Parts: sequence; structure tokens; C-alpha cells
Amino acid sequence: MKAGRADGKPVGSLLEELGRRQLLVVTGKGGVGKSVVAATLGRLLAQRGRRVLLLEVDPRESLHQLLGVDPSGGEVVEAGGGLSLQNLPPRRVLDDVVREHLRLAPLVRRVLNSPVYHHFVDGAPGLKELAVLGHVQRLVQGWGGRRRGHTDLVVLDAPATGHSVSLLAAPRVTAGVIPHGPFGHMATELAELVADPVRCGVVAVTLAEEMPVQETLELLDLLRGRLSRDPQLVVVNGLYPRLAPRRQGASRRNGVELAVRRRRVNDAELARLREHWRGPLAELPMLPLDRGRELVSALAPLLEEALADRVEGRP
Ligand SMILES: Nc1ncnc2c1ncn2[C@@H]1O[C@H](COP(=O)(O)OP(=O)(O)OP(=O)(O)O)[C@@H](O)[C@H]1O
Ligand SMILES: [Mg+2]
Repeated sequence: MKAGRADGKPVGSLLEELGRRQLLVVTGKGGVGKSVVAATLGRLLAQRGRRVLLLEVDPRESLHQLLGVDPSGGEVVEAGGGLSLQNLPPRRVLDDVVREHLRLAPLVRRVLNSPVYHHFVDGAPGLKELAVLGHVQRLVQGWGGRRRGHTDLVVLDAPATGHSVSLLAAPRVTAGVIPHGPFGHMATELAELVADPVRCGVVAVTLAEEMPVQETLELLDLLRGRLSRDPQLVVVNGLYPRLAPRRQGASRRNGVELAVRRRRVNDAELARLREHWRGPLAELPMLPLDRGRELVSALAPLLEEALADRVEGRP
């Protein structure tokens, strides 16, 4: 990805700036369009030459529908154009860590089958979150199971707001509790990755409605309070169209009237969000399309345009 230079610092579009990272965590309230935005962003960045892996940690497994490919079932699925997809069961990553550190097959079997290990993995707070981030790091370092070629960037279709903050905070918490050994070492490295805005970015997705905006404002507070960082971008998704004003005396069909009211709510909530968030913000419309690759294809140029502003990047 090319970028010009001003005062020694790289400059480029916001999209290019996002694409320079190794990890983009896409989060927001349930149902606001996190998966749609993650898929669209992944597609756009892949089109720009980055080798992108879309990582899904939701066992409901639905991201593949947005790319028009088969479900991953835990494997990396190529989705064309430099984009691939994986649905990750976090437990598998932890098992891999055991395999790597205990190379003797009988020992590995004994540990993986032992109730103590199961209890530890299921009960230890933050361990599954650590596993997800550990997997990301292995991918971008080039040894995480993508068969053909290296992954430049992982776009994580992350869980809803609070869980995502816990995910990002997990390495720091774990490193404090388990400072030594393979998990402690992994936690320290991952805490550095998450704290580094050059390598790790956060994209907050919201609808311009009361509850999602409220949750976005809470996310901003949580990110600042627990991780001392801001998101790189807020995407306001699903905006209703702005309709032309009604001619005097003319009546409106119910559906149109509803859209007008929703847009009024959208504008009020956008303004509320703007009072608290002065950073990069991209608006995406609500499109009359079902969930699927057509939706991603239609949103991609709109998101590209919304991220076309030039920004000064980090060196
Ligand atoms: N801009 C849009 N235009 C039209 N439909 C959209 C748009 N964005 C999202 N949708 C639809 O809204 C629904 C929710 O989107 P999505 O599954 O991406 O949300 P999510 O935040 O990932 O949800 P969850 O929290 O359940 O994972 C889907 O049916 C999706 O197709
Ligand atoms: Mg989702």
C-alpha cells in the first residue's frame, strides 16, 4: 500500500492507514452490523493488496454467508482476491500451545485429556481471549496455518462491546497473574501488541439509534479507562435515507413517514455521538439488500469513499 510523505510521516487515505495494521478489531453492540462491516473492510483492504484474514470467533458461524464461501469449520477458507476467512474455536489454539511445548505425543495426549487441563482452560478467566489474540499473532508472524502465503492483517469480527474490551484487556490481566511459562510469555507479548496503536486498531460499529450510540459512548470510556486508547474509526451503519421535504398539503405513505422519522432519530443520535467523538467517522446507509455477498459488494465502494479522506499516519 503506497503512501505519500509529509514532514517525514506517512500520509494516505484513512483506509490505507487502517490497512497498515496487523490487527483490526471490529466491535460494537449486538446486531449493529459488526460482521457486515468487518467483511466489507476485509474485502476493501484485500483489494488494495493486503493479504487479509477475516477471523470469526462466534460459534454461530455466519461470516461465510457474507463472502459467498463455505463455512470454515475451524479451517482457513480462501474467499478470493487476497481475502480468507476462519472461524476459530479458541480451545483449539490452547491445545496447539500445549502441543508445541510438550512435543512428546503420549504426554500431549495425557495433558489434553486430563480433567485438570479442561478445568483450567474452561475456568481460567481471560485464557480463551488470550488464545484468540495468540492465534492472530501467529498468523501475522507467518506460522498460523494459512496454507498459501502469509497473512498481513487480521480483521477480527469481535464479540459485542464489553466482551471485546475484555478480550483486549486479557493479555495485560493474564501477564499480571501468570508472569512466567509459555502462557505468561504469550500474554506479555500480546499485551504489547494490543497496546501498540501502530499494530492494533479498533473499529467501533454503531447504528445512529439511542441504545447503540449509548453503548458506543460506553465503549469509548472503556477503551480509554482500561486500555488508554481510542478507536481508529467509528462506523455509523444502517442510516436511513434523507428524503426530500414533503410538498405542502401532500400526504405520505406510512412506510415513507416511518423512514422520515427514523432519519430524524439518526440525525439526532449522530449529533450526540459527534459531541463525544471528534475522531474519524464513516457513515453507511441501510441498503435494501439481504445479508450476503451482494450487500458487501454494494457497501464496499461506499465505505471506500467514506474512508477516502487523507490522514497523517503514524511513522
Ligand atoms: N448497511 C446495511 N444495510 C442493510 N442491511 C444491513 C446493513 N448492515 C447490516 N445489515 C443487516 O443487519 C443484520 C445484522 O448485521 P450483522 O450480522 O453484521 O450484525 P452483527 O453486529 O455482526 O450482529 P451480531 O452481534 O449478532 O454478531 C444482518 O441481517 C445484516 O444483513
Ligand atoms: Mg456478527
